[in-house]
Amino acid sequence: MPIPESFLEELNARTDIVDLISGYVSLTKKGNRYWGLCPFHSEKTPSFSVAPDKQMYYCFGCHKGGGAIQFVMETESVSFPEAVAILAQRAGLPMPETQGQGDNRKKRERLYQLNKAAARWYHQNLLSPQARVAQEYFTRRGLSKRTITNFGLGYSFNQWDGLIKAMSEQGYEKQELLDAGLVVKNEKGHIYDRFRGRVMFPIIDLRGNVIGFGGRVLDDSTPKYLNSPDTIIYNKSKNLFALNLAKKSKRGMIILTEGYMDTIALHQAGFDCAVASLGTSLTPDHARMIAQRTQEVVISYDSDAAGVNAAQRAIQLLNKTGIRVRVLKVTGAKDPDEFIKKYGAAAFQKLIDGSENHVEFRLLQVKNKYDLSEDDQRVACIQELAQVIARLPGAAEREVYGTRMAKELEITPDTMLREVQRCQKRQLRWEEKQQARKVLQPVQMNQPENRALRYENMRSGKAEEGIIALLLNDPGLLANTKGLSPEDFSVPLFGRVYQMIWERWSEERPVSLNVLGPELTGEEMNHLASILQNPLSQTNRERAMEDYINIIQTERLKGGNQAGVDDAALMAYRDKKGMEEPT
Ligand code: UTP
Ligand code: MN
Repeated sequence: MPIPESFLEELNARTDIVDLISGYVSLTKKGNRYWGLCPFHSEKTPSFSVAPDKQMYYCFGCHKGGGAIQFVMETESVSFPEAVAILAQRAGLPMPETQGQGDNRKKRERLYQLNKAAARWYHQNLLSPQARVAQEYFTRRGLSKRTITNFGLGYSFNQWDGLIKAMSEQGYEKQELLDAGLVVKNEKGHIYDRFRGRVMFPIIDLRGNVIGFGGRVLDDSTPKYLNSPDTIIYNKSKNLFALNLAKKSKRGMIILTEGYMDTIALHQAGFDCAVASLGTSLTPDHARMIAQRTQEVVISYDSDAAGVNAAQRAIQLLNKTGIRVRVLKVTGAKDPDEFIKKYGAAAFQKLIDGSENHVEFRLLQVKNKYDLSEDDQRVACIQELAQVIARLPGAAEREVYGTRMAKELEITPDTMLREVQRCQKRQLRWEEKQQARKVLQPVQMNQPENRALRYENMRSGKAEEGIIALLLNDPGLLANTKGLSPEDFSVPLFGRVYQMIWERWSEERPVSLNVLGPELTGEEMNHLASILQNPLSQTNRERAMEDYINIIQTERLKGGNQAGVDDAALMAYRDKKGMEEPT
């Protein structure tokens, strides 16, 4: 499977990361780094840096970091090999075709072609006289011919082998049809068309490839929608319906809906920035893809309880990306599709213009949790509302929402605002504590929920960071780590990286964060990149190494202390030994 490391090294050598990133972010040089506004989170002052000497980027705000390949993976939402291919093309390097890789690529290419042929066939079916029912169905749902063409909609006849026959005639193998998820195999080993008697919605990726389908029945039978299974070219948690169209929209926002038909109806009404998740709730990958393409998202889910719940989850995920999130209240209709049909596009535009920002939505959600006719519940509700309001950044905002909520809960605005202030103070104290901890602990653990990154023993963890940073900079220092084995590391990730460095070094293969990329998750890469931001002592690295190893071994003998403690002790230790503080 792997791309040869020598190729990755050559690729990294031929890629100037400053030049690459300049294509996405406007960078200004300060000292030996370049700075710009982070492409991964929204910000007003630059905390995104590029270090040409290390050929790395790192954001001090959102803690994402890595090399050129990682950057392309993140910004283009592509896999590792795809990012390598993009960079190779940019650098004018022909891609090496390892056996497995070449095969895999050919296989994917075939499946794209097959899906495209299938989409054409379904579309032709729809236009044929025998597909009157399907044409009438779309007409009844208000879709124009133009919309049908734009979305490449189609129809699968109610036959067991219509597609199989048509695709076999075009030279596709049964196995390929299975691999594409277009046919199903029963227990007896017979294969038959997955989609039968359904109107068809092709799913198209950002590069215009058909990667899967949704199919809807024409009546009330179940399942209402059938979707392609995940295949080697389709992953429902990483694709959004119509994002290929929405990415060209000039509206400056993305409207997120729950369904195929909602999105299509919105496009037809001129809201060409609508997308839908596909038979799944929004995933972190979806949120990231949206945030990479817009500064504002308007959630427009169904008005039922399930839709409201799904919206809350989506808000949480989208808020993390830092883009502006608003929620549309679709009243008088069960979903956006029905709304547009009943009230028209202008009314939908009004909904967007007046759509609740997520503050209003949050407040409403809190209020709905309580029975306000009960006094004790009212008190609890007021307190929870005050907490939400206390987190708002602006004084005017706090006043506006505080006063409004006071009215609704029938207390004086004064009482409400006092309650808000109390929460603010409490939150401030908490933040100060966090801040103090951050100062003692300069490298943030981005994903503490990830076991591989958790520091069970802070002293040891910090020393391990030091070792890994030293080795990635100068693998020759491995000579000074005799007696240290991967199991000595308390943080699993560092043990693994240490082992990888050893193996590579002993086989005289290149060592750098970039070549380790394929064996690391994105989070792990971010974490390692953050560690490499600490300036290394230029002198006496051998001595530093020795000290770090001592700490690890002492901590191991002690049986380790609890996470997060004794930073002060570590600093005192460093002082005594004359070691550098990694800031
Ligand atoms: P809805 O039932 O809200 O569908 O499901 P809809 O888009 O309003 O459909 P119409 O208007 O009745 O045609 C929302 C989405 O959930 C997925 C589909 O992606 C659908 O668009 N879904 C729904 C399924 O995957 N399978 C189902 O059986 C139902
Ligand atoms: Mn609907």
